[in-house]
This record gives sequence, C-alpha cells and structure tokens, in this order.
Amino acid sequence: MPRFSKNIANLRSSEIRDLMSLATDPNMISFAGGMPGNELFPIKLVDNIYNSLTEREKQAAMQYGPTTGLPTLLESLSDYLESKGLPVRNNRLIITTGSLQAIHILAKAFIDPGDPVLVETPSFIGALSTFRACEAELVTVPLHSDGMDISILQNRLDCNSPSPKFLYYVPNFHNPAGIIYTPEVKLQMVNLLRGKEIPIIEDDAYSDLYFYEEDLPKMRLIKEMDPEGIDVCFTGSFSKILGPGLRLGWMLVPDSIYRKCELIKQSLDACSPSLSQVIADKFIREGYIHTYITEVREEYKKRGLAMIETLESCLPEYVSFEKPRGGFYTWLKLPEGCDATDVLRKAIEKGVVFVTGKTFDPDGACNDHMRVSFCNTDIETIHRGIPLIAEAIRELYG
Ligand SMILES: Cc1ncc(COP(=O)(O)O)c(C=O)c1O
Repeated sequence: MPRFSKNIANLRSSEIRDLMSLATDPNMISFAGGMPGNELFPIKLVDNIYNSLTEREKQAAMQYGPTTGLPTLLESLSDYLESKGLPVRNNRLIITTGSLQAIHILAKAFIDPGDPVLVETPSFIGALSTFRACEAELVTVPLHSDGMDISILQNRLDCNSPSPKFLYYVPNFHNPAGIIYTPEVKLQMVNLLRGKEIPIIEDDAYSDLYFYEEDLPKMRLIKEMDPEGIDVCFTGSFSKILGPGLRLGWMLVPDSIYRKCELIKQSLDACSPSLSQVIADKFIREGYIHTYITEVREEYKKRGLAMIETLESCLPEYVSFEKPRGGFYTWLKLPEGCDATDVLRKAIEKGVVFVTGKTFDPDGACNDHMRVSFCNTDIETIHRGIPLIAEAIRELYG
C-alpha cells in the first residue's frame, strides 16, 4: 500500500458527488452546475481572434511564458481592472490558471497545518477544499443577506488564539448564497481587521454579471477602497466572462505577497496556458469583452428573473429564498429540521438536480438550504424543472 501524505486524508469525495452519479439520465434537468451556458460561449469571436493571429503570435501562444503572465495580457488586463476602479498601479498582478489557482497559491502562502482561517458559512466549496487540503482549521462566520455577521466576526477575532491567518470572502453574487455585501458590512470588516495582520482574500468571480446598474455603487470592493493597514488579496476570473475552458484567472496583491506567490506558482505549473492568454489579451484589446459581457449579462438576467418568477409561483410558502440580483445562483431555505438531501433524492426521481446546502457548510452539517442555479438552463427548462423541485418538497413536507 503506498504511504499517502497526511494532507490528502483531508480530501473527501462529497456525498453530493456520489448522489449526482445516480443522476445519469441524459434528460435530467440540472440546476446543479455553476458553469456558464455552453450555448453562450463567444465561439465565433474566439475563432476570429485565433485566425487573425500572425505566425509569430501563434508560435508564442504555443510556447511557455513568464510565470506571472504574458506581458501583453498583464498590460491589457491592468487597464481593464483599472477602468473598473481597482488600484492596479500600487499592487502587482499575476495571471493564474483559473482564480481557483490564485486562491490555492494564497492558501499555500499563508497556511501551515492547523492554522485557523476565517471563512463564511456557507462558503464557496472550491476554496473550502483548498484550505482543507492545506490542513487549515476553518473558523466560520455566518452569512446573512447583507454579508457576514459582524458581531460573530468580532467574537472570532477576540476569542481565536492563535489569530486567523486570513479572512476569505465573496463580496458579490455569492456562491452559493447569491447575496451582495452591503457597504456598511464591508466597512465594519475593514474596521475590525485593520492593523491585525490578517489579510483579506476577496474573491470576486461574479461582479461583472450584475442585473441592475444601480447596484454598482453598493458593489464597491474592499480592494477598491484600498484600506490602510490591511493586505487585500483580490482574485478574479475569465471563467464567467469568457469561458472556464481557458483556465485563466488573476490575483492583484501587494508587492510583498506577490513575491512569495510568484515562487509558489513556479513550483505549481511554471506558467498559465499561453494560448489562452493570447486569446484573452485580444478579447480585451479588441473591445469584445465589453460587448460580450453586456450580452451574457442580459441573458443571465432573463434566466434569473424567470427563476424568481417560477419559484414565487410554485414553491410552498414555507420555503424562502434570496432574490438574485446577478451572478448564477438562488439559495433556497427550507424550514428548520428539513433535509435537502431527502429533497434531492426525490427530485432525482423526478428528473431534476440541484446542490444541497451542507456541501457549502464548512462543518458539513447544516442541510436546510438548496443551491439552485439558473446559469446553465434556458427559460423553458427553468419553467419545466422548478415545479418538479417544488413537488419534491411538498411530497416530503406537505
Ligand atoms: C466564488 C468562486 N470563486 C472562484 C471560482 C473559480 O473559478 P475559476 O477557477 O474557474 O476561475 C468559482 C467557480 O465557480 C467561484 O464560484
């Protein structure tokens, strides 16, 4: 028997994945995935970009590149991020292999086995798995509709010794909770963390996908505030605004953190895919990024509104949910004592799947929520599939 490392013992196959493997019917309606709609990818634009590359550019695209990213993409992405208000000039940018790699690199930079890290509950499962793989102790702060519970954050900071290595949070269109943090909560977080040597990892995978322009001021990031006395490590992704198949994300971090992250990335993959970087660079430079995001934003808004309308018309009144204002997810709350795994079993019998709440609970226990995504299903499928979930809930709980 090979002697595996201790830290892979922390990696478990989730019960949900096992349940999902039962959902093999090709006609199964899935509200489970957090991936963009296949039919929405900018295939023609990517074809145009590739076909317009010179021989030299194609050669560079097939070659290894610098660990921190191709200079031309670093330049175009810097301009893009700066135009959104991010403090690019007094920070350093690294292109990563998806933003999950950015989170992974930051986790490696900060976590020693047993170190406490602050996470929201519920939280993005990819980040939780990464922190677990680094053998972190997950210290949880509950999430409400305006952001994390500030008095519990305060309590965790007062009572946790040694103090947490960082705080990880998702500011806009949270995965799975769908919420937007209010400016007040972000300000209180900043005030609590200032001067404590606890960096913030701000994971902003979704903020381009807002439904309402009027929400933009509220969505202002902590990285944009660039608060004195806190290291803010900002991560972002091309996955939802171009395509996850390119595997490209980024981190924008203070110089001292950048140096460590560069070394860690060297040891992980030397560089992110050059071909993807060349495509992403042209996608920004040709201005396609703006037209494309506007297009998908409109489509996700239509799907999100169809989801809200269908849920409102068919859910039992004892199920509540956060109305999405962007992103990919709705987060349904069952009454206390109900079990989303039972609902999922019944829903699979009816031909429809979603993800159970405990998947996103750092303690893997609380299971009275359901994540139902609207990103990868068209409106007709939403109209057909959501009533089946409502039926499954009624059959179990009346
Ligand atoms: C909150 C959040 N962060 C990060 C990611 C990772 O995205 P990627 O690695 O594709 O950039 C996801 C993907 O679903 C996500 O939901």
